[in-house]
Amino acid sequence: MSERIAHRRRYLMCRPEHFTVSYSINPWMEPANPTDTALAVAQWQKLYDTYLELGHQVELIDPLPGYPDMVYTANGGFVIDGVAYGPEFRYVERQGEAPAFIDWFRDNGFDTRVPEEVNEGEGDFLLAGDVILAGTGFRSTGDSHAEVARIFDREVVSLMLVDPRFYHLDTAIAILDPVVEDGAEPGIAYLPHAFDDASRAELERRFPSAILVSDEDGAVFGLNSASDGRNVIISPRAKGFEAQLRERGYNPITVDLSELLLGGGGIKCCTLELRSAAGEHGGAQ
Ligand code: ARG
Repeated sequence: MSERIAHRRRYLMCRPEHFTVSYSINPWMEPANPTDTALAVAQWQKLYDTYLELGHQVELIDPLPGYPDMVYTANGGFVIDGVAYGPEFRYVERQGEAPAFIDWFRDNGFDTRVPEEVNEGEGDFLLAGDVILAGTGFRSTGDSHAEVARIFDREVVSLMLVDPRFYHLDTAIAILDPVVEDGAEPGIAYLPHAFDDASRAELERRFPSAILVSDEDGAVFGLNSASDGRNVIISPRAKGFEAQLRERGYNPITVDLSELLLGGGGIKCCTLELRSAAGEHGGAQ
């Protein structure tokens, strides 16, 4: 097997200074259970440090008081080639985050598009090679898929999520190869039963070599991971997925975000990829 190549990534993160669980908009969130903000920050810091150690660039957006879910920056937009499509959150509890993300993109030189449709950014939109995989069923609407197809002028594959525990696409699919040669099948991993039959058939057809993860690994947010093409940051609880990654020549690195899981989010949720216009940043390491 040829050596997997790490590609330098640029990410947007948000320190969970105001993290808590004060409302419930997914089955993981139980406001009656206590949360430990200092522990959330310490676990998040480990993820941040790991990215820097791997040579990635991490930008930060200021956390807003009263928005405990802002740490999940994956929901703050979807960015390809320097074009940033902003979020429009489904639930009122998070709607005040949207202007902050949109302002951040504008202030940082992105070609920023304000959405008309309800969408939760890279939580539901994943770039797999040239194609955008788009989740719906719980958060982002089908109309947002059409909006994304228009804005990025790419093929969008709509996938229907059916299990409320896996309410964002990034809890049910991981993109393992962020950079792929023309026409090659991008490495992905997914949880088959998170999808309806038609979506599962579509995934099987397009990604015959995909890693299928077990329910056990899916249920500990094993798929909610970040890959640079070689190093894959995953939850330490996803033991089976860790072995599957090793078999395929990836280098799994574990980071425990147990406290952030109380809000229904993991590694990928805390990470928004900033794909710059061609020629800027990025490249093999
Ligand atoms: N509590 C947040 C919500 O329900 C968690 C978001 C997780 N983000 C993700 N990309 N899956 O919106």
